[in-house]
Amino acid sequence: MSSIGRSAVISKFDVEWAREQFPALRQTVNGQPAVFFDAPGGTQVPQRVIDAISHYLATSNANTHGAFLTSERTDEIYAGAHAAMADFFNCDPDEVVFGANMTSLTFALSRSIGRELKSGDELLVTQLDHDANVSPWVSLEERGVKVRTADIKPADCTLDMFDLQAKVRRTTRLVAVGYAANAVGTINDVAEVVRLAHGVGAMAFIDAVHYAPHGLIDVRALDCDFLACSSYKFFGPHLGILYGRREHLQRLRPYKLRACTEQLPDRWESGTQNHEGMAGVIAAVEYLADLGRHHAPEARSRRDALAAAHEVVAGYERELCARLITGLLEIPGLTFYGIKDPAKFDQRTPTVAVRIEGYTPRELAAHLGERGLFTWDGNYYAVDLAERLGVQQSGGMLRIGLAHYNTAEEVERLLSELRALPRR
Ligand SMILES: Cc1ncc(COP(=O)(O)O)c(C=O)c1O
Repeated sequence: MSSIGRSAVISKFDVEWAREQFPALRQTVNGQPAVFFDAPGGTQVPQRVIDAISHYLATSNANTHGAFLTSERTDEIYAGAHAAMADFFNCDPDEVVFGANMTSLTFALSRSIGRELKSGDELLVTQLDHDANVSPWVSLEERGVKVRTADIKPADCTLDMFDLQAKVRRTTRLVAVGYAANAVGTINDVAEVVRLAHGVGAMAFIDAVHYAPHGLIDVRALDCDFLACSSYKFFGPHLGILYGRREHLQRLRPYKLRACTEQLPDRWESGTQNHEGMAGVIAAVEYLADLGRHHAPEARSRRDALAAAHEVVAGYERELCARLITGLLEIPGLTFYGIKDPAKFDQRTPTVAVRIEGYTPRELAAHLGERGLFTWDGNYYAVDLAERLGVQQSGGMLRIGLAHYNTAEEVERLLSELRALPRR
């Protein structure tokens, strides 16, 4: 293992093995190595994802179901992508629906669920969520449906489960909750939310976009009705993917073309799909599985290998994040949003949001960006949360989002830049 690997907080995780696979990490900015702390907005991709996309376009580019070679190859990619995501979610391939992105898939689903709803029905969303898990449900208000919002505890940006429980009622038809908060990293007890929803006969929709690069998803264990994510957040191309429980995907009526079959998942996948993107998704899932096999050669199935990957990644990210949070909390004038109690670090992803007195988040992000440290500023579409925390009108927060390809040295570089900021 190299110096990067040895000095990394978790010796078990071979961060250099991971880093070597990502060509983007070799870039420099003003003579300094680029540091990607923008993962919650989109992760970098390993070389094999780039190769798979180019290879598809060079050798297999066609539409599906034709009686010729490139179309047959496309059918294989299509089937392979559904099988890869079925392993990723722990479901069957025909319960996997591809689309442009999570937002479009969620709007398509909400429109179709809306066909079953009537005036007086209620939907429940949360204040912690990305707007892509709020607006598609709020748009159903035009059908006379009422949307309620579960509050948060602002002190640590966790969901107020008492408030949520009180708002899950006999009239609730669907509870939409995030697996993890893209703005502040809180991991929600989604299994409990599903249990509460099912207790009143409501469906549970989980937005796993932010959680997907950080933890293993198991839709069977969660018993959720729907779960959505985006492969560009877990080392793949810009695509959205939805899991739907088969009985719902069969019963609900999507807005679809007559020419599109009633088979699953076809009836939900409108128009021609992004086939080169699907080739990239297979490669992204294979990358994660190989990461698991690299650390746990005994892993047998692809699903076992994915579980092994997430186990080692979670341990590494947690310690990297602990180092980041400890350092941030020592910076004078810094306000921290989210879980900072080390005893609760298993309830957060390595995504942190802060403000520093005297600087707007934009100024901080620009200052860091010039020095090759890529962070985000603003509300990252977590609109209700930014308003609840009182930062919406003043530029939101600075978000530092770690992924497993980040290192302790990179975290230290960020901390020393922030420590060196003149007090204002
Ligand atoms: C938690 C969360 N949900 C939903 C979305 C929207 O995903 P997409 O860009 O695939 O529509 C994002 C994107 O940032 C997100 O972070």
